[in-house]
Amino acid sequence: MSQGLKEQIIERVKGDLQQVEAALKNGLKPNVELVTAIASHLLFAGGKRLRPLLMIHSARVCGYSGGFEIEFSTIFEYLHAATLLHDDVVDAADVRRGEKAAHTKWPAPQVVLTGDFLLAQALTIAAKTREPDIIDVIAGITKEMSQGEIDQMEKRGDLGLTQDAYLKLIERKTAVLIQGACKSGAILARAGREEREALSRYGFHLGMAFQMADDLLDYLATAEQLGKNPGADMREGKLTLPLIHSLANAPEKDKAWMESAVREAEFDPDRFEKLKQMLVKYKGIEYTQSRAKEHVQKAKACLDRVPENESRRLLFLIADYALERKV
Ligand code: IPE
Ligand code: IPE
Ligand code: MG
Ligand code: MG
Repeated sequence: MSQGLKEQIIERVKGDLQQVEAALKNGLKPNVELVTAIASHLLFAGGKRLRPLLMIHSARVCGYSGGFEIEFSTIFEYLHAATLLHDDVVDAADVRRGEKAAHTKWPAPQVVLTGDFLLAQALTIAAKTREPDIIDVIAGITKEMSQGEIDQMEKRGDLGLTQDAYLKLIERKTAVLIQGACKSGAILARAGREEREALSRYGFHLGMAFQMADDLLDYLATAEQLGKNPGADMREGKLTLPLIHSLANAPEKDKAWMESAVREAEFDPDRFEKLKQMLVKYKGIEYTQSRAKEHVQKAKACLDRVPENESRRLLFLIADYALERKV
């Protein structure tokens, strides 16, 4: 099913994707060679380009035809790329988009500063929109995301992380950016309040489902599928919903074992397999899937309030894909 959905989406967006790639290349003009090398290593290693596509089609679903949606959509990929560079340093991740994480090829300070450059690039294009409401959204995103990442860093290894704290965290580190991309599309299209709000809510729910799916994939997918290493959350001492729910459900002995598995600094494949079995047994996987599904349903319901057209059909498909995806 996921393959079918993915193909349907690609079929509809392949023209946009080509234009987004060209715009990303065109917009990336640092005058320091090292920045070009590091930024290109991540930016052109693939990536689904989900956030630009969401902005483009949120604009078009509201009838936008001003011709700037491709260029402005790169804001959200540059912003995303900046946070990925920073995130991989913070998480000490070794693989990203199927390639070596940038900080394993270049010194971390250089990678962090390149992330800053990509952020500046995003802000430069945001200023070009001459839309104060878009600039406002982007300022909010950067504030929330940086705090989400700091919050996550501080909560690393915290075995008492509650479901509510987890939900707040994923809202900040992931959903706010996806929400902002959708809302900015509606603003660019000069959509009315109801449509802006509908697309903003769509993006929020999509973003929540997307991060829950990412947290499931970290347990269930292979490195080849993901382009990053599974088991990273266990290794990073990162409690996500499958584990939080299972810890709350398990009897004392298994709970203590799961806690010790997350505390171990060294990655052990057998331990990871056993942890996965526990997440199935104590229904953390099932529960996370059902919570993510609820968000997908809510995202789709928001689309009732935007015009029926090709872009709306695409936004529907993307909502389903958020959960069915394997990458
Ligand atoms: C990765 O995002 C970071 C998360 C929010 C889970 P994507 O899964 O969209 O990564 P790319 O852009 O396709 O590499
Ligand atoms: C995803 O955080 C959100 C950001 C990159 C800001 P994660 O740390 O969970 O993402 P992955 O698993 O490294 O892609
Ligand atoms: Mg990470
Ligand atoms: Mg993750």
